[in-house]
Amino acid sequence: MKFATLIAGFAALTAASPAAKFGRERFEQGLAKRQSRPTSYEAHTIDQPIDHFPHSPRYASHVKGTFKQRYFFDSTYYKAGGPVFLYIGGETSGESRFSNLETGIIQILMQATNGLGVILENRYYGKSWPFNSSTTDELAYLTTEQTIADNAYFAQHATFPGIDGDLTAPKTPWIMYGGSLAGAQTAFTLKTYNPLFAGGIGSSATTQAVLAYPQWYDPIIKFGPSDCVSRIINIVDKIDQVIDSGNTQAIQAVKEAFGLGALKNLGDFAMTIAFPIGGPMFYPTSTWQELNWNSTYSSEDFFNFCSNITNPNPPKSVASVDTQFSKYTHGEAWTGLGGYADYVKKVLLPLCTSGRIDSTDEGCYGTQNQTFWAEAANDENRSYLYSTCTESGTYQVAPAHGPSLISRVLQIPYTQQWCTWAFPKGKFNHIPATPQLEYYLKYGGWNIQAPNLALIDGNTDVWLDLCYHSNLAPSPRISSDKYPSYLIAGAGHHWDSYGILNVTAEPDYIREAHLWEIRTVGKFLATHKKKYGQ
Ligand SMILES: *[C@@H]1O[C@H](CO)[C@@H](O)[C@H](O)[C@H]1NC(C)=O
Ligand SMILES: *[C@@H]1O[C@H](CO)[C@@H](O)[C@H](O)[C@H]1NC(C)=O
Ligand SMILES: *[C@@H]1O[C@H](CO)[C@@H](O)[C@H](O)[C@H]1NC(C)=O
Ligand SMILES: *[C@@H]1O[C@H](CO)[C@@H](O)[C@H](O)[C@H]1NC(C)=O
Ligand SMILES: *[C@@H]1O[C@H](CO)[C@@H](O)[C@H](O)[C@H]1NC(C)=O
Ligand SMILES: *[C@@H]1O[C@H](CO)[C@@H](O)[C@H](O)[C@H]1NC(C)=O
Repeated sequence: MKFATLIAGFAALTAASPAAKFGRERFEQGLAKRQSRPTSYEAHTIDQPIDHFPHSPRYASHVKGTFKQRYFFDSTYYKAGGPVFLYIGGETSGESRFSNLETGIIQILMQATNGLGVILENRYYGKSWPFNSSTTDELAYLTTEQTIADNAYFAQHATFPGIDGDLTAPKTPWIMYGGSLAGAQTAFTLKTYNPLFAGGIGSSATTQAVLAYPQWYDPIIKFGPSDCVSRIINIVDKIDQVIDSGNTQAIQAVKEAFGLGALKNLGDFAMTIAFPIGGPMFYPTSTWQELNWNSTYSSEDFFNFCSNITNPNPPKSVASVDTQFSKYTHGEAWTGLGGYADYVKKVLLPLCTSGRIDSTDEGCYGTQNQTFWAEAANDENRSYLYSTCTESGTYQVAPAHGPSLISRVLQIPYTQQWCTWAFPKGKFNHIPATPQLEYYLKYGGWNIQAPNLALIDGNTDVWLDLCYHSNLAPSPRISSDKYPSYLIAGAGHHWDSYGILNVTAEPDYIREAHLWEIRTVGKFLATHKKKYGQ
């Protein structure tokens, strides 16, 4: 896809970064490795039914048969009788989740319990494709209910070559873990197939779905460097004022200030200048979402962007841009515009190596190419878009009222247009006019509860308002043994999934969350033991 460019500034990672990618998960790979731990895992496959619901009218073509679904496991800590930790792959390849076994939450839990860890790759991601291409008809089996049925089937049928004995659920305790979209799938699986699992942890589990999600920007407004935030808000107000005026010459001049005069579509312009902040849907550099409690896993991109905007001593050529458009705003300067535009020119524009800014070439910024969207080759980004268009929605848009970090040009139709272009009506399957959120919300949204389902969130996470601890949901949430929950103060998107092979050495707010997860899993295992004996 076109935004396949390196993440600038993410130098700490040794492996190639996955770059701009659709989905709530941006990068998980290339993290620190210790000599004594496996540094890669062999791929195994299970024959997974493509259609778990042969009688449901929803899957009218009802293909029979199975596909090869990949999984990867780590038995370094395993001792007979130990639990299985099922890490849900979500919207990326199994390989890009390895760090969770190597240094992250699954490593922590395996070590604490003599458990075995296994990553299950999501259908239609990585190399787990039910079909050789992804036409609208072929994508029909990419639904939440089919995906979570895979998890249940896997827990009952998985084999682990080299490990003696039958480790299937429910006799062996299986505990699920997922972050973000995979966290939501974990929660939905626990809700739907509860007796199969000893427990599960949904981390930053985005269990709620909405059509429009302006709240994505709220934690940045709340917690970002306040002068940077206020300058962006003021600049966006002024850009929108010029756009609303309909003065085409002025609009063109503003685009040109960012080096984006070639972008014909205003939405594409608005999205491109929003990239350093994030979204909608994908972005080429790292943002607030990619911050991490450990600098090894973090990126300074967002703060570099901000310090360009707040630079007290910019060069003259940059500073002069601040007053270039004052004539359109009653003489008021657009403070910080020079630094903002300079950053876009220096960091974003070079990613479009062909120089055809308005094209869908790799790294370029046009999105109005119908042919490009309609290409039916298997592609993770296409899979994520399909799920978004059909079930989960949650388009990142400017808020209807109040301050905004992104131009108000960015509304639902901008994203919906890609859906329409990407998924023309098939023989059996067609996408809805807007996402059918009920398929996603039927599990309970942000009020979801299931016995032994733990929900852990971070209060600076851009996805928080879709999670159990959402600002829009009843609060405070009170944890209990049956319905454990935890809100980490100062943490972002599933920050508990990262570790450094020594919980004691972690910063206290992460350490305490990990110790809580170890205790919580201990309770799951005690309950399971009561039910099943040894
Ligand atoms: C999805 O997009 C990213 C960034 O454009 C790209 O690196 C990746 O290869 C794409 N995935 C696939 C399967 O094409
Ligand atoms: C997919 O491609 C493989 C390898 O080319 C081929 O063996 C298989 O029959 C194809 N499957 C379908 C459903 O076309
Ligand atoms: C602007 O951003 C660039 C690229 O990230 C960074 O190297 C530079 O330090 C920033 N400039 C200022 C003044 O902060
Ligand atoms: C539109 O997309 C197609 C398919 O990716 C590509 O071949 C073509 O060059 C694109 N056109 C433009 C103007 O980007
Ligand atoms: C960050 O991670 C690295 C690599 O695991 C580790 O050496 C370092 O101590 C960690 N820093 C903090 C603050 O936890
Ligand atoms: C873990 O970190 C603690 C605190 O920094 C330290 O005292 C201890 O030696 C470390 N343990 C290992 C095994 O490295």
